[in-house]
Amino acid sequence: MNLAIVAFPDCSVPASLLAAELGCACHELEVHRFPDGESRVRVPAVANTVLLYRSLDRPNAKIVELLLAASALRENGTARVVLIAPYLGYMRQDVAFRPGEAVSQRVIGKLLAGYFDALVTIDPHLHRITRLGEAVPKIPAISLSAAPVLSSAIGPDSSFVLVGPDSESRPWVEAVAAPLGLKVLIGEKQRYGDRNVNVKIDGVQQAEGRVAILVDDVISSGHTMIAASRLLLEAGAIRVEAMATHCLADPNDLEAMRSAGIVRVTAAQTTSSPVARLPVANLLASGLQAAGLTNA
Ligand code: R5P
Repeated sequence: MNLAIVAFPDCSVPASLLAAELGCACHELEVHRFPDGESRVRVPAVANTVLLYRSLDRPNAKIVELLLAASALRENGTARVVLIAPYLGYMRQDVAFRPGEAVSQRVIGKLLAGYFDALVTIDPHLHRITRLGEAVPKIPAISLSAAPVLSSAIGPDSSFVLVGPDSESRPWVEAVAAPLGLKVLIGEKQRYGDRNVNVKIDGVQQAEGRVAILVDDVISSGHTMIAASRLLLEAGAIRVEAMATHCLADPNDLEAMRSAGIVRVTAAQTTSSPVARLPVANLLASGLQAAGLTNA
């Protein structure tokens, strides 16, 4: 066989959906964790081109296992190994914000580029660079937008206002709102710590009597969404929902979002979060086909 997907066990469901879109086989690889936390990875001998599927949320151990899998595939005859990482971790730290900090985006991007022939991801957190190729050099590095997936999940309704909680969210919110013709509000955020943020939203009074849908690329602790939702509810929004491409929030943070009055949290299926329910198989399949990465 010339093309197959090999998935880590934590990604087997979305990987099978992608295989169905592409009409190829999907195999699960084996991961054994030794008592000290070290991993042993065993891959099936499957195809000339392998799409290795693993999302890189909670990335530290996952990255090591990914490199082991890519090496094993090559040693077992795979000629081309393409990484499908719907969420690509370590993209946030794109500069040294304080002297002495490692620029993890560059370190991890270069590491992955050394093991894969191409990489495909969705909405990586790129703010101070314009192309994913600047972070992942020398291989085709393809960044797909989940905006159409989020827009379809929202649908046109003139009582909705889409709210970006900070200036960095503007491109995502505008891309989601544009096909629906919805009104957009953008906030400004100050971050004081991982779970300590302050948000202001100019024109927040325009949310009065409307359903406010917060949109961002990533929900991490959820506290950005919580701070913004308080302002929207105080301004008289009739309901607040939150939507993002990636949801990294743990169960306690999801509960905190609900307690703050966010009635629904929805994300694309790029992590194993229970709220990550919008399928991305079609988006990934189209992106892979357009880039010629499904030709064996
Ligand atoms: C930051 O620029 C991102 O777009 C998100 O706003 C941020 O990662 C959300 O973090 P948290 O959910 O922890 O507030």
